[in-house]
Amino acid sequence: MSATTLNYFDDKAQIWDADPIKQERSLAVAAALRQQIPLSTTWQALEYGCGTGLLSFALHTDLGHITLADSSPGMLTVLEEKIGAAGLTHLHPLALDLTIDPLPSERYDLIFSLMTMHHVPDTERLLRDFYALLQPGGWLGIADLDREDGSFHGASFTGHCGFDRETLRAQGLKAGFSGVDFSTCYLMRKATSQGQREYPLFLAVATRPSA
Ligand SMILES: C[S@@+](CC[C@H](N)C(=O)[O-])C[C@H]1O[C@@H](n2cnc3c(N)ncnc32)[C@H](O)[C@@H]1O
Repeated sequence: MSATTLNYFDDKAQIWDADPIKQERSLAVAAALRQQIPLSTTWQALEYGCGTGLLSFALHTDLGHITLADSSPGMLTVLEEKIGAAGLTHLHPLALDLTIDPLPSERYDLIFSLMTMHHVPDTERLLRDFYALLQPGGWLGIADLDREDGSFHGASFTGHCGFDRETLRAQGLKAGFSGVDFSTCYLMRKATSQGQREYPLFLAVATRPSA
């Protein structure tokens, strides 16, 4: 990820939760994950690219322990304050950027992610890393933008303009995952330079096959 992107999220962290769309988006994705994955309070989970933790906060009663990973120190600072204020002892922030850091030694029953993958240049590598971080039989749930025309972020954005589902499915299968099923989990409204637009978000659910 570029230094520009990192600064962007550091700058936005304090006001991130004030956006009702981001709140609504997280609740919609949490509901879809709950519907499609048999979540358990015995599970150890990893949220990758957690931001201020909106999605994990929506899921925290469904899971035993959640590691909330992000590369933005600003996001992690806000997250730590929120976890402390809520008195939650099973949510743990982690500074992690899998594009540059070594894989953590922990293994998880579930990895989930919302609107982060389009910021990661090498998605094949990220999927391989997620596979390695899952226990055999573990679940993956990725929510992100469907392929769009670039208007979501604007002309200066260097990440992915959403994803083609079949391309991502093929990458998931190549990484070793089973299933890789897609559904539409949210329609995000956003003001752009071309006016108010709607962007569908997919949820991709897959499993690491049992050993
Ligand atoms: C669009 S925000 C989404 C945040 C949160 N998931 C949400 O939906 O509110 C993308 C997040 O991914 C994080 N991020 C971007 N690239 C990353 C990377 N390579 N490793 C870890 N986190 C990353 C950013 O810092 C940011 O918090």
